[in-house]
Amino acid sequence: MRRPLIAGNWKMFKTNPDTSVFLAEFLPKLSDVPSGRDVLLCPPFLSIARAVGLAAGTPLCVGAQNVYPKENGAFTGEVSPLMLVDAGVKYCLVGHSERRAYFGEVDTFLNEKVRALLEVGITPIVCVGETLEQREAGQAESVVAEQVRAGLTGVAITSVVVAYEPVWAIGTGKTASAADAQQMHASIRTVLAALGEAELVRILYGGSVKADNIAELMAMPDIDGALVGGASLDPSSFYAICNYVEKG
Ligand code: 13P
Repeated sequence: MRRPLIAGNWKMFKTNPDTSVFLAEFLPKLSDVPSGRDVLLCPPFLSIARAVGLAAGTPLCVGAQNVYPKENGAFTGEVSPLMLVDAGVKYCLVGHSERRAYFGEVDTFLNEKVRALLEVGITPIVCVGETLEQREAGQAESVVAEQVRAGLTGVAITSVVVAYEPVWAIGTGKTASAADAQQMHASIRTVLAALGEAELVRILYGGSVKADNIAELMAMPDIDGALVGGASLDPSSFYAICNYVEKG
């Protein structure tokens, strides 16, 4: 019912030449990935055009990592939703924990981004997740529920993707167990059910996803894909994740 989506977030890695090298190795392998899965890469802004050009005619989608929620104007250094459309972007991350932590982005602002992206037909991937402190205080589900509600206020939820990325699992090598991730995904789906047709919304897991843990995560009923950081930087490890073997 929900097409799996495997997304790579390159963060602030890779120049244009690096992008070409990666895709020269990755794109030919993509034909081995089952066609019922969506594969997405989100390079830095300046490598998007290169990635879109090289991915033309292949099943690879290209996304952005950020957007500014205004049509245009005096917003030095920012990129608008229409500029992303113009570049060939189909998806855009919103509210990654690094943006929340280092750039002070809060849910009300993130909600503006979600709405601005939907207006131009780009699918927002709304990132949520608790810190270790919040998890240890038993607040993980309530923190995430509030992020989901606030980020998606007034939004047609079937047009968005949600990514659950526990902050303590990002870049640390500590993945949430498949069972813990499933529990949170189920809780997110319950929150979504109050907002619309939750069964149609893809919920990705992110945080130290690797080739050796993807199959177990994807076997969970409410895990519909992955948002991959470090392991998406290497073509063979990202390919191995995209080509995970479905568990019986
Ligand atoms: P890692 O896969 O490197 O833990 O990063 C996860 C992430 O932040 C993806 O957006």
